[in-house]
Amino acid sequence: MTMDDDLSRIGISLPKNLLDQFDKILNYRGYSSRSEGIRDAIRTYNTYYKWMSDVKGEREGVITMVYDHDQRGLLVTITDIQHGFNEIIKASLHSHVTDNRCLEVILVHGDGAQIKTLAEKLMAQKGVESVKLTTISVED
Ligand code: NI
Repeated sequence: MTMDDDLSRIGISLPKNLLDQFDKILNYRGYSSRSEGIRDAIRTYNTYYKWMSDVKGEREGVITMVYDHDQRGLLVTITDIQHGFNEIIKASLHSHVTDNRCLEVILVHGDGAQIKTLAEKLMAQKGVESVKLTTISVED
């Protein structure tokens, strides 16, 4: 494995609760070190992005997102973004999970590149906890 031979050292700042959650998972999954966990998390992130860039052609799929209801202006922003993509959004379902967390499922159909742009825009908003995109090709 030549890929991981050259190690770079980085310093990052994280919210305490994010790191606590991460450490809990690492502990549960038996990781030997936090560094190994972070390397794995970055690999997963990279793979997910590569996989997302393969979303091409006519597609049908769902975007599943979790976000913070209390984040100022976020609800309006999310609605505005979705209106901007009304040609590819077929339906959406909103569930108020707790007092401050929302789960939203958006059904999409259309050009893969556009679907990907929509998912990335939603992902980039402050207060959005997670966005997952799952699509299938419409062509046989
Ligand atoms: Ni809600």
